[in-house]
Amino acid sequence: MTTSSFPTIKKDLDAMKVKPNLDYDKVRGNFDWQEMYDELDWLPGGGLNKAHEAIDRHANGRNRDKLAMIWEGKNGEKETYTFGEMKVHTDKFANVIKSLGIETGDRVFIYMERLPELYFAFFGALKAGAVVGPLFSAFGPDPVRDRLQDSGAKVLVTQPDLRRKITGIIPELFELQHIIVVNKNNRDPQPINTADLSYEEEMAKAPASFDIVNTSQYDYSIMHYTSGTTGKPKGAVHRHQAVVQQYATGKWALDLHEDDIYWCTADPGWVTGTSYGMLAPWTNGVTQLIYEGGFRASKWYELIQEYKITVWYTAPTAIRMLMRAGDEVPRRYDMSSLRFMASVGEPLNPEAVVWGNEIFDMPFHDNWWQTETGAIMCANYACQDVKPGSMGRPLPGVELGIVDENFDPVPVGKDGILVVRPGWPSMFHGYWGNAPMYNSRFRKGWYITGDSARIDEDGFYWFVGRTDDVINTAGHLVGPFEVESALIEHPAVAEAGVIGKPDPIAMEVVKAFVSLKDGYEESTELRQELMRFSRSKLSAAVAPREIEFVASLPKTRSGKIMRRLLKARELGLPEGDTSGLEEE
Ligand code: PRX
Repeated sequence: MTTSSFPTIKKDLDAMKVKPNLDYDKVRGNFDWQEMYDELDWLPGGGLNKAHEAIDRHANGRNRDKLAMIWEGKNGEKETYTFGEMKVHTDKFANVIKSLGIETGDRVFIYMERLPELYFAFFGALKAGAVVGPLFSAFGPDPVRDRLQDSGAKVLVTQPDLRRKITGIIPELFELQHIIVVNKNNRDPQPINTADLSYEEEMAKAPASFDIVNTSQYDYSIMHYTSGTTGKPKGAVHRHQAVVQQYATGKWALDLHEDDIYWCTADPGWVTGTSYGMLAPWTNGVTQLIYEGGFRASKWYELIQEYKITVWYTAPTAIRMLMRAGDEVPRRYDMSSLRFMASVGEPLNPEAVVWGNEIFDMPFHDNWWQTETGAIMCANYACQDVKPGSMGRPLPGVELGIVDENFDPVPVGKDGILVVRPGWPSMFHGYWGNAPMYNSRFRKGWYITGDSARIDEDGFYWFVGRTDDVINTAGHLVGPFEVESALIEHPAVAEAGVIGKPDPIAMEVVKAFVSLKDGYEESTELRQELMRFSRSKLSAAVAPREIEFVASLPKTRSGKIMRRLLKARELGLPEGDTSGLEEE
């Protein structure tokens, strides 16, 4: 059975400059996670803490003076930090929040752009035993309020412009005790709110060394909000234990070696930016580039050339945008430092894999995982041939399955629900405060991913689609409910139904169908006003790209909007079972 018409990209292991870390066929057969746990350093008191594995173990050893972070700011500023320096900054921040009374398990949220201080606050909070929640800096006030309220965050670390953006929601955050404002290089000369703390002042006062709280591997460490089919986004919580898989996948799926210069383009507001923009490279003692700016094809190639990036982890939408920018752009730069490229977050079309092979002389290695899985679960490995369009094979120590609606296995080559056998080390350990939702993700001994896929006769997995209404736009999961809730807060909107509409670059874009209240007329101005309104509440990444006015929305008898029907109509597909439909 061939699942793609593109030929397999063969690897010549003998010709590789760097020998892959993983011999898949050898390791996969009889692998025990204990082997990886043994490679961790562990805390002197016997506990486990992600910050120790990522920073202190290197700062205390021969990597003390090795560069951990090369930072380039959006205005071209450059800074570098060794593992030893990272230890000092993170120790200081741990002291800052300890002095504020933060205890093990308290939630500390970070709402910042990719500044070095984001990383110091992140690991400092982990050292103090806190549970850290990074938020995407492009979020508007609504998603920030929902997440801070739901998690009961006690401390928020932010920067002046973002602090001003959310001023209106602060009175609604009853559990928030402190706001720490980072004014990087005094970029923002306006005075901070008198009730806020200045990061720079607090850090200047803080002692430069801190004994990491002796967290256990089972203690909570990081939470990321993720969108589901119903309700607002849920906080997927991870334990310190997840670090073993983040370390192992950095080594195996990203093939990180000591001398690599690594660049992960993801933002820590999303899970890829923490698992692979912080934990995987640093637990492997690798130097990484952090670039504060956004996407621009020529700039990205320039960064690869300037910093001699060897391993690059990015996402399909970015790759498709690079393809669109034209082949002559990368040819103007020296890309010869690159030796391994990987991609995640959305389906990576085979054309993009093949394009990578033509332009960079190596394919993009697609891999699959989720916020809930905490780390890569299925990957194309450096040691193996790549079938363009496939997500690769399960990680050693991870069992995937394809099942039908009764959770029975389906034959090879047939589409089914992608499931995982619980027990992988980076498995999430709950949705914050929502046990029923967590429990609903497990059935008959499987974790249900929400994706459908198939497996071929060589054991490679092929992504098919989502099994729910969650929209994947440019790699960001968007729950339609969140967007609908924002829209109906506008006085003109009676009802809203939101779907993902196929798009050649972003895979899907958010499209809203809106019915208006009596007394309001459809108009271009109102459409633009609704776009602006939802963008300012949510963020441009989440807000609808398209709004269509409709007289009414298709609903079930119990009043639930039938998004499936909206989508079928949008795409001109058969409407399927409409027996529950009650159209006005
Ligand atoms: O639908 C799958 C898609 O992204 C979802 C996970 O998104 P999130 O929780 O935000 O995690 C992002 C970190 C990976 C999956 O359920 N997805 C992820 N990787 C792939 C993918 N779809 C197709 N191919 C992939 N490689």
